[in-house]
Amino acid sequence: MSAPLLIAPLFMPSFVKVWDLPTRLFHWLLVLSLSGSLLSVFYIQNMEWHSLCGYSVLILLLFRLFWGFAGGHWSRFSSFIPSVQQSLAYIRQPAAWQQPGHNPLAAWSVWAILLVLMCQVASGLCADDDAGFSGPLTVFVSNRNVEIFTFYHADIGKWLLCFLTGLHIAAVLFHIFYKRQPLLHAMLTGFRQLPHHSAIASDDNAWQRLKALWIFALCTALVYAAVHWLQTRLAA
Ligand code: HEM
Ligand code: HEM
Repeated sequence: MSAPLLIAPLFMPSFVKVWDLPTRLFHWLLVLSLSGSLLSVFYIQNMEWHSLCGYSVLILLLFRLFWGFAGGHWSRFSSFIPSVQQSLAYIRQPAAWQQPGHNPLAAWSVWAILLVLMCQVASGLCADDDAGFSGPLTVFVSNRNVEIFTFYHADIGKWLLCFLTGLHIAAVLFHIFYKRQPLLHAMLTGFRQLPHHSAIASDDNAWQRLKALWIFALCTALVYAAVHWLQTRLAA
């Protein structure tokens, strides 16, 4: 066989599993729980629902923390720690980036979203609405600090979160419609098309999924037990 024919498969487009099922479920459940947290305060004004949705966000964040070490290749934190050089190179020549996971700018935005979400949940746990509803950690916090956490939660964190998620959705739409990259398809099916064959695929076998289920159950049990214990203290 001639040399060009031998190397041709290396340069042919291929489908690579980039987002494993647990990461995709994490993403869409996060979208649901976050929307629930916002709708519950702005439309139905029900703090029970608000805290339930907030606890769901907390469970998902805890799960993502574990999955950042135990998940498929492209879901691991080690695969998206962007350096400044990489980010500048990506801004100068985005087309040269051929990896299936988060590009350096997307990686920064993912870290920012996760961090701001953690701050939103943490401040919510220490907030008070002055109308009979208190986050379960308020028992451990002075009145002055409850005011500060409530101020952050209701007046700063919510805007940061709206800004970052708005930017995230705008960036995804830009990639889909302007750059013709089917990113949404990848977050739905897990697969991304690449112009070459050399990318590593994320593990997404039955064992990985079972592991994710165990981690998720553990995170749910942890949050449930902690909230239950704190609420008993709050009521006492
Ligand atoms: C409440 C709104 C949203 C939040 C908080 C959010 C958050 C996130 C997070 C944390 C990731 C990183 C996934 C991971 O590695 O764990 C991500 C990735 C992604 N999200 Fe969202 N998301 C939101 C809405 C959406 C929507 C509406 C779409 C579709 C239009 C979308 C499409 C994507 C895609 C395609 C990726 C992968 C990006 C890449 O290829 O680098 N997201 N999102
Ligand atoms: C990511 C999850 C969360 C989001 C996005 C979120 C967002 C919000 C928003 C937008 C408000 C209304 C602010 C306003 O009136 O303009 C609010 C109020 C509030 N949230 Fe959350 N929240 C979350 C989690 C939590 C959690 C887990 C708790 C506690 C269990 C909590 C407790 C509160 C309290 C006590 C208020 C009333 C504050 C006030 O009256 O000024 N939140 N939250």
